[in-house]
Amino acid sequence: MNKALPFILGVLLLLAILLTVNDVPKPSEDHVALTTTEQPVPKEKNLWVAPDVATLPTGEEGELVKYGKELVQFTSAYLGPKGTVMHISNGMNCQNCHLDAGTKPWGNNYFAVYSMYPKFRERSGAIETIPKRVNDCFERSLNGTALDTNGKEMRAIVAYIKWLGTGVTKGEKPAGSGIMELPFLDRAANPENGRMVYEQKCQSCHQADGAGILNAEKTAYTFPPLWGKNSYNNGAGLFRLSRFAGYAKANMPLGASYDAPQLTDEEAWDVAAYVNSQQRPQKDLSKDWPNISGKPLDHPFGPFADGFSEQQHKYGPFQPIKEKRESMKKDKK
Ligand code: HEC
Ligand code: HEC
Repeated sequence: MNKALPFILGVLLLLAILLTVNDVPKPSEDHVALTTTEQPVPKEKNLWVAPDVATLPTGEEGELVKYGKELVQFTSAYLGPKGTVMHISNGMNCQNCHLDAGTKPWGNNYFAVYSMYPKFRERSGAIETIPKRVNDCFERSLNGTALDTNGKEMRAIVAYIKWLGTGVTKGEKPAGSGIMELPFLDRAANPENGRMVYEQKCQSCHQADGAGILNAEKTAYTFPPLWGKNSYNNGAGLFRLSRFAGYAKANMPLGASYDAPQLTDEEAWDVAAYVNSQQRPQKDLSKDWPNISGKPLDHPFGPFADGFSEQQHKYGPFQPIKEKRESMKKDKK
């Protein structure tokens, strides 16, 4: 009996090691594949918490970070059509999409920006820096023009984003970062179902014509637009169904959160299909995705290396595309 004990302990230890190894998350290829592995985790599981503004460094550096936060929250007041500094964007605020100034869990936050950039992105086919990525949002989500990367405004936004990511291990995406990944539906998302969801759960704020409502001074939106001339363009992240659905699930209608969602997964995908079927500004995307096999599953513009239609890449079902791509990858090896 005494002799068997060390042996049994050894076996248990080995098992424990094997189990842990299996648990190690695989490196995510967020720009290539949609994974269904990043499920919402319950509150106890230690979501990343952004640093407190009270801990901001004093002096010039602290002031720059504060100005950056201000620009993220009130972008339009500074840089919108009636902006006090420049007129380079559509009237939306970064914060309309990067909620709570980029600090809300699964609210499209900036937790994993400083830790992950510079990084290679398939959309541009190049290594992207934080300023480049910020300007992507100016040109697409804000349907505007890029900021001078040496100017005070860009330096401030970047300083804020870096400060938010201080403490995150380089190369790591902390829990709750970015946009939630929803499991695929086993059917195509349905814009008609989505219209009903929209009418019941979105329209009261975002309006029947999707144009939202400006504040009284017309300097920013009280309820931002979801389509039409002042909305994000067809090259923006939210124009991909998975980004919109994941954002909506954890954040909309206003007041929803990852642990108190108000939409089923089906409603989230369907309302995404409805909103992204409406008219919006068009950007020249001919230089995007130089390597067509790097396009995300839900990038809706061909040509594609996998043979599926633009329709299916826009609305799904996505699982067959995913499987075909995986088998194509295997064939290459
Ligand atoms: C209309 C919605 C919208 C607006 C407005 C917007 N963004 Fe974004 N932004 C997105 C989406 C969607 C993504 C992609 C997230 C993903 O792929 O998971 C993104 C990604 C980013 C990223 C990269 C995040 C990461 O983890 O890789 C940065 C940085 C960023 N935005 C900064 C900004 C800044 C600064 C502004 C304002 C000047 C802004 N965004 C305005 C929707 C928006
Ligand atoms: C009670 C009002 C309200 C309702 C209802 C509501 N939203 Fe919003 N929505 C907002 C506000 C306010 C923001 C901007 C949040 C901010 O700036 O902090 C927003 C932002 C958004 C954004 C990102 C910004 C943009 O305009 O592109 C999307 C996408 C969105 N909502 C989708 C939806 C969908 C889909 C529904 C219905 C399922 C919905 N919302 C219901 C108030 C609402």
